Amino acid sequence: MKQTKKPPELARRYRNALRDQLDAPRSRGVAAARALGREALAADCEILALARIHEQALVALAPDYDFAKTGNGLQLRTGRFFAEVLVPLEREHIAVRESLKQIEERTSHLHLHTKELARGNRQLSREVKRRQASEAALKEGNERYQRLLQQSQFMQVKLRSLTHQMLSAQENERLEISRELHDEVVQILVGINVELAALGKAAELGTKAFQKKIASTQHLVEKSVNAVHQFARDLRPAALDDLGLIPALQVFMKKLSARRQIRIRLTAFAGVEKMPSVKRIVLYRVAQEALTNVARHAKATLINVSITQLPDVVRMKIHDNGKSFKVQQVQSTKAHARLGLLGMRERLEMVGGTLLIESAQGEGTTVLAEMPFPPEERT
Ligand SMILES: Nc1ncnc2c1ncn2[C@@H]1O[C@H](COP(=O)(O)OP(=O)(O)O)[C@@H](O)[C@H]1O
Ligand SMILES: [Mg+2]
Repeated sequence: MKQTKKPPELARRYRNALRDQLDAPRSRGVAAARALGREALAADCEILALARIHEQALVALAPDYDFAKTGNGLQLRTGRFFAEVLVPLEREHIAVRESLKQIEERTSHLHLHTKELARGNRQLSREVKRRQASEAALKEGNERYQRLLQQSQFMQVKLRSLTHQMLSAQENERLEISRELHDEVVQILVGINVELAALGKAAELGTKAFQKKIASTQHLVEKSVNAVHQFARDLRPAALDDLGLIPALQVFMKKLSARRQIRIRLTAFAGVEKMPSVKRIVLYRVAQEALTNVARHAKATLINVSITQLPDVVRMKIHDNGKSFKVQQVQSTKAHARLGLLGMRERLEMVGGTLLIESAQGEGTTVLAEMPFPPEERT
């Protein structure tokens, strides 16, 4: 509670104003009373203190006025004066109450807002938590995916290298077996035949039946020799090593077209024979598989094989006029893996090459094999 400023001064003026009011007309008194009230208000004078000032004024004025007497209107006028003095204070109280009410309202509004805010905050934090959780799940999923991808890439590389190993092992083994057949089995067979011939001569004097038996055995051995030669040649065509890729292909094509009544045309550039033998073998094996596929599956009447040189690349194109097939479908079917097409691709990739197969209804199939042939390999 603030101290009333200059109360004696206020009390004095109050007394004088009250005296004026008691002596003078009412209207002036009202203005003076209100002015006093405002003054009291400005001086932070409380109602109780004002009541005391009023009482002191009455005591001071008592000798001059007969307040005890009723009917002279003095009690009424002093009462009214005091009431008028109080008006500004009362107004201020109303204003204060009003603003208090407003403040209360605002506070309750604020309270409401705060509640809403808190609710919003709770929702937000729930949302944040949910997001964090799903982000974590996403991140984990992504990491898992990356791990699996890496694994599968690794497996792919491994699988490829294993296939390469297998194919080159096959090629080496073929060469080995082929040599063994040519050099050992055939030699032994030939040796047996020589023996048989000698035996035949010695048996000239023997029975006809015996002679016949020896002759037919000789015939069988000769047939075996041919079969073994053929087998050895198929395994690893001697022509490929001895004469070159083009003659080897010609031999293979000649036999195939004789067996299947297919016309096969070959065009090739002579420089292809300068390619390293590894690459020539790949070209031969790819052609062998592609041509066998045409003979087996395509019902074609014509095959065009061309081997051409592009800048730093050798391209082999094998086109047939047979029925087409769904390349994508065949290549992606794992159920009964087709090793022919797969082998062609793998062999080519082993030497840095590529395989492209196109097949369209009415247009047959084109197998396009390419491999690098840099200048340093051509000399
Ligand atoms: N030139 C072709 N014309 C028609 N179909 C072909 C041709 N080449 C391949 N195909 C089809 O693709 C399949 C897969 O060939 P491949 O991998 O060599 O396996 P395979 O010859 O043992 O069946 C064949 O079974 C055949 O249906
Ligand atoms: Mg095949």
